[in-house]
Amino acid sequence: MSFLADLKTLYQVTFRPIRGQDHASRMESFYGAQAAGYDAFRERLLKGRAEMYQAIDPPQGAVWIDMGGGTGANLEQLGDRIHSLSRCVIVDISQSMLDVAKQRIQRRGWQHVETLQADVTAGPVVSEPVDVVTFSYSLTMIPDWPLALETAKSMLKPGGTIGVVDFYISRKHPSEAQRRHRWFTRSFWPIWFAVNNVYPTPDHLAYLQSHFDQISLHESSAGVPYVPLLKSPYYWFIGRKREGE
Ligand SMILES: C[S@@+](CC[C@H](N)C(=O)[O-])C[C@H]1O[C@@H](n2cnc3c(N)ncnc32)[C@H](O)[C@@H]1O
Repeated sequence: MSFLADLKTLYQVTFRPIRGQDHASRMESFYGAQAAGYDAFRERLLKGRAEMYQAIDPPQGAVWIDMGGGTGANLEQLGDRIHSLSRCVIVDISQSMLDVAKQRIQRRGWQHVETLQADVTAGPVVSEPVDVVTFSYSLTMIPDWPLALETAKSMLKPGGTIGVVDFYISRKHPSEAQRRHRWFTRSFWPIWFAVNNVYPTPDHLAYLQSHFDQISLHESSAGVPYVPLLKSPYYWFIGRKREGE
């Protein structure tokens, strides 16, 4: 991506006011102007996505729902495994992001992949049982995120897989198995991201760990394009819905 295109995206992310009376119109206001340049810029910002999507191995004929799936770029990470899915739905509240996803589906000739404009907090988006649900950098943008996770769990088959990759901050006193972020990190990132209606919190991970069996958890941090020294923490979590739930 050219430096000028980067500058345009940076302006939209940093200075362009986000308007709208409700969540859906705020999301469209934010993404409408940048959907076309979204993938190139976010590739350097939203880390852990490739690793998480590559780590999920869906069974043959699986149904996969990508919640807040945006432009569908993450599905590229499935490679040939995408052809083994019986259905894959990219759900997003922003039609502009889904328009980019639709172009990708056509370009790639993905037969069983579709888009759906919907709010993932409004209840199940498909009627059949689901094998895999993913959230990539969408949970921090969903104000009613517990509802989104409840919906995900209700759609999943027992034993089904949930994958979440996103920004976060640690608890002040996390368990010994997890990273502890310094005061500055825990205080700075929520303020920085709130400008774009992104809300990193320790609660997402705690919720995932208590509602699903943890298969893997990776915690790391990534640089921000054009902002030296700053590194924003992110995690990716893969879990399984418990039998009998
Ligand atoms: C940072 S983008 C991530 C897009 C994509 N998953 C990725 O990894 O590049 C967050 C996405 O979540 C979507 N989103 C936010 N709230 C939503 C909601 N309540 N229901 C569905 N999608 C939502 C936004 O429209 C946006 O496309």
